[in-house]
Amino acid sequence: YGTQAINEQGHLTIGGTDSVELAKNYGTPLYVYDIQLFRDRARAFQQTFKEAGIGYQVAYASKAFSTIAIYQVAAEENLSLDVVSAGELYTAVKAGFPVGKIHFHGNNKSLEELQMAFRVGIGCIVVDNFHEIDLLKKISEQNKQSMNILLRVTPGIEAHTHDYITTGQEDSKFGFDLKNGQADDAFNQTYNHGYLKLIGLHCHIGSQIFDTSAFQLASEKLLQKMSGWKQEFGYICPVLNLGGGFGIRYTAEDAPLKPAVYVKKMIETVKQTSEDLGYPIPEIWIEPGRSLIGDAGTTLYTIGSTKEVPKMRKYAAVDGGMSDNIRPALYGAKYSSLLANKANALSTEQYTIAGKCCESGDKLIEQADLPTVEAGDLLGVFCTGAYGYSMASNYNRIARPAVVFVENGMSQLVVKRETNADLVKQDLSYSQKAIQK
Ligand code: LLP
Repeated sequence: YGTQAINEQGHLTIGGTDSVELAKNYGTPLYVYDIQLFRDRARAFQQTFKEAGIGYQVAYASKAFSTIAIYQVAAEENLSLDVVSAGELYTAVKAGFPVGKIHFHGNNKSLEELQMAFRVGIGCIVVDNFHEIDLLKKISEQNKQSMNILLRVTPGIEAHTHDYITTGQEDSKFGFDLKNGQADDAFNQTYNHGYLKLIGLHCHIGSQIFDTSAFQLASEKLLQKMSGWKQEFGYICPVLNLGGGFGIRYTAEDAPLKPAVYVKKMIETVKQTSEDLGYPIPEIWIEPGRSLIGDAGTTLYTIGSTKEVPKMRKYAAVDGGMSDNIRPALYGAKYSSLLANKANALSTEQYTIAGKCCESGDKLIEQADLPTVEAGDLLGVFCTGAYGYSMASNYNRIARPAVVFVENGMSQLVVKRETNADLVKQDLSYSQKAIQK
């Protein structure tokens, strides 16, 4: 993956830094991000749009990994930003991210969150439902402040890794139904509002998608709707946002396309469909999360105990687990790994990599081919950059790992390791006498 290699000592290197040294300096478990790889991915998406000569925004879907440092790199790489909560928005503002390029998502944004978006002056709000339209009208009229909006619609396409299904009416908690009039009602409620500037439609059809056909179908459906509004009301939406969801390679079984391929196919379809419908070609916006940051992340763990269940399997336990990466336990997600301090050693054994949480289901990898492991060995688990740290918890009161960025042979701490004191920081004492009547 990316700039990973093996050095003379047989150690895994990431971004030109020795993983054994990283573990020594920063401790484990440790999230290591190969920032050059994130930059490469960001540039590849943008380059494809530039070559096609089409207007675009590539918004980093920061739910995948949200920290001040990654927002700063995203800004350096001219990305836009998709945030989904006051917390992500606050982090972006703290990072100095250009507010005009922030897009706000969510199916239940609170009044306070929307007010914050106006106060900060973000680029646009992706409107999810009628309640939100009411709130936005109220805030914009009270403030006499305009705001760009996109309407999120459910096009009735559910994309999965290798295929998609079309459903008449998608059963989703997100967005306005495209077929049964909800999108039209939302259009009617917003398109001629004095302060809300309707600039386009949005859809997000799934995640870890390996195929372009579902994106193509979705863009056709949204363009048809936009074209209908042009015919009926003479209203033109300049933006088509097709969401994120581009797949990445977690294990050898996964065969995703290159970012450029997804984008090229989208552009072709949007150009062709616009032409067929006599509609001006809209800007295409996308929101990749996983495909920008996923394979940039590696987690380093120290192996502790091992256990053999005779004739069944060998367990090797690491000093983290579902508390820093819930994806295997939650989704059955698969990962590949390497013994980072003995990266050249032949794999002779098969281990189940167990976490340290008090749950049998806390297994990071079911079958990892590794050399014989010993306590103190360093395990690198690859492709943990998306939805790993961002979904980490303090289950079992385990402190969350540190995060370092590596680039050009240098490393820098960007999130400190939590301490036990951090874990009780919000706790208050209780005494029966102090209860107020
Ligand atoms: N845009 C919207 C509106 C989304 O809901 C999402 C992801 C994205 C963009 C980015 O999708 P990506 O490019 O990362 O696939 N926790 C799950 C993934 C949840 C995705 C939620 N929405 C996982 O770990 O696989």
